[in-house]
This record gives sequence, structure tokens and C-alpha cells, in this order.
Amino acid sequence: MAAIADVGADRRRGGYSRHVFDDAERELREWFVEQAEARGLRVTTDQNANIWAWWGEPGDDAVVTGSHLDSVPGGGAFDGPLGVVSALSAVDLLRARGFTPRKPLAVVVFAEEEGGRFGVPCLGSRLLAGTIDADRARALRDPNGVTFAEAMRSFGADPARLGRDDAALRSIGQFVELHVEQGRGLIDLDRPVAVASSILAHGRWRFRFSGQGNHAGATLIADRHDPMLPASRLVLEARRIAAGVDGGRATVGRLVPNPGGTNVIASTVDIWLDARSPDDRSTRSMVEDLSGAAAEFAASEGCQVEVTEESYGDTVHFDAAFRDRLAGLLGDAPALPTGAGHDAGILAAEVPTAMLFVRNPTGISHAPEEHAEPGDCDSGAHALARVLEDLAG
Ligand code: GLV
Ligand code: MN
Ligand code: MN
Ligand code: MN
Repeated sequence: MAAIADVGADRRRGGYSRHVFDDAERELREWFVEQAEARGLRVTTDQNANIWAWWGEPGDDAVVTGSHLDSVPGGGAFDGPLGVVSALSAVDLLRARGFTPRKPLAVVVFAEEEGGRFGVPCLGSRLLAGTIDADRARALRDPNGVTFAEAMRSFGADPARLGRDDAALRSIGQFVELHVEQGRGLIDLDRPVAVASSILAHGRWRFRFSGQGNHAGATLIADRHDPMLPASRLVLEARRIAAGVDGGRATVGRLVPNPGGTNVIASTVDIWLDARSPDDRSTRSMVEDLSGAAAEFAASEGCQVEVTEESYGDTVHFDAAFRDRLAGLLGDAPALPTGAGHDAGILAAEVPTAMLFVRNPTGISHAPEEHAEPGDCDSGAHALARVLEDLAG
């Protein structure tokens, strides 16, 4: 992790900002390719901009591990990179033991896991699995209006080939992603490593409130159609509704007024809602309730609202037999659910998939305070090596 500690460090926000195809993420991709090639792994980039590093001949029924290198804006150092670095360390540990895999073994780096640039999380794995339409992916725009297709082209890749990749899917016999824990489960259990049991149902919705842009001084209060009012009320309503749902979470982490001037009543306000809960029905019903509330709040200010679903994924229950096998290999590692989304959650619908979590002593993630102690990272790499040895041996 030390070798990439400066890449994408965000002096303004704190933490790291590493977004797909930006300078920092490209540098990390180059770093990964160098590291993989230095180990004699054979590197390829698939049609969806995910990178693969093969130990042995690429082939079907491989044991695949890895994670992502991109971050949220101002994110932590470990979310994503820990899984990639640990995968390389696990290869080193296995080599040092004289292990030779009997099945192909690959380390994968997925593109745009956070959706930090184009809005849809796990974009690389969704494209690989065909759970997002390729035309829709090509047309996704970043905050500067650059499409995913344009960004791919300036990266030197061909967006025409985006989409479900049957050959890559066939090549994955089992997938195991190691990830820093993003909550307090392992602190409470006083253990360094866990296996994942489930991922919450979760998605992202954009609410666009439209009103009348106008002058902050010259417009009487009674004459206003200010979209910031219904948007703000929706933020409060999201908290109120989520608090009433068992395991419910609703977050507005991004709010963009247009044009965004201190002395200007906005003409539109976009807010992005991230809603999650243990099941599909509760998550959907939170969003339905919030959509109804948004329409009412908008009408009371003489505004309109338009709601767009940007991404969604139902609850993931990881394969119990596979999970138990891994837990057994790791001295009865505990099983923990997670509120965070992962590429492993997308792949779980296609291939036997499991996750390992490494303790995070702050319990904080998607923020600079996210952490993992060196000793726990080491336990994680050893745990992953043990799992790969079992699966590929
Ligand atoms: C990704 O980390 C997510 O859960 O949003
Ligand atoms: Mn994340
Ligand atoms: Mn992650
Ligand atoms: Mn003026």
C-alpha cells in the first residue's frame, strides 16, 4: 500500500480521489500492470476495461481474486486497493511456499466500482455480467458532460465492445474478493478477518427538482418557485423514513443546484438518494414513499420533480456452502453482513462467490479515517493465500 500512498491524494477534500480513467486511476492501473508483470503474471484488459493478471495459462474454471482501484471522492486508502494489494501478496506468499496452482489463477481489477465518475457503481462488473445495457453505459456522463464512451476512447479503449463477456464469465470458476470492513463488526468480535454473509439491497436515484431561477434580492418570498425548498425537505424526509425501516439507510451525499450562485434562486436542484435495506421490498417502498413526498414538496413550492433510477441491486446472500468452506479454512472465521456494495455482489449471481473482510479499527469508510493495521492486512493476505491454495491446489 505504501507504493501507491501518494497516488490520487486529494489535498482539497482530504483522503483520495481516484476516478476511472483519470490521471490517478491510470497511474494505479500502470502500477498494477508493472507489479503483475514483475511477478511473471500475464496481463490483459477485457472489453469492459477490467484488468486481469494470470498466473499460468488463462483458461476456464479459474480461481479469481481481486477488487478495484478507484475511490469515492475524498475516500480512504483501503476500500478497493487492499483487495488488489492482498491478491498480489497472496501470490507472493504462495510462491514462497513453492505452491503451483493446478487451476488457472487470476487477479482482477474492476473498473469504476464506486460509480464515482459516471454514477453507476460496479460498472465494470455489471458490464461483464451484462446487467447494464451497453448503450446505456456508453451514454453515461460524468459531471463535466464527458460520456463513458468518450472517456474510454481517450483512455485508448474501444467502447464498441462493451457488454456481457461470456468468455470472461466462463473463465471464473470461483471469485473471492478481499475488502476492508466498512463497519464495526470485527472490532466488536475482536477478530482480524471475517467472511461475508450478505449485502443489503441498494440503489441510487436522482431527484431533479425544477423551479424558476430568479434574483435573490428582487424576488418576493411569495413569488418564489425555489427548488432548493422541496430538495431540502426531501433530505429530512429520507432520514425520517429510513429511521422507521428495520435496517434501513437513506443518504443524500450529493446535491447540485443549477446554476449555483449565492445570490441566485436555483432553477433546478439535483439530489442523489442512496437507499438501502435488508430486503428488496423495504428498499423499494422507502423510495416509493420518498418519491410521493418529493412530488408533494415540489407542488407546494410550485415546482416539478422527476425521479430517475440510476442503479439498483437486490439483496445478495453469498453461497452458504462456499462461505462455510472458507470460514472453516480460516479457523472458524465469523460471518458478517455488509451494507456496502461490491463487485463480488454482482458476480455472485453468476459464479460461486465469497468475500473476506479485514478489520477496520475506526469502523469508518468512504472517508479519510478508513484504516487497517499492518498486522491485520498481513492476516488478510495470509487468509486469502490459504483460500487460494485450497481452491486452486
Ligand atoms: C460502494 O462502496 C458502495 O457501497 O456504495
Ligand atoms: Mn466503496
Ligand atoms: Mn470497495
Ligand atoms: Mn444584478
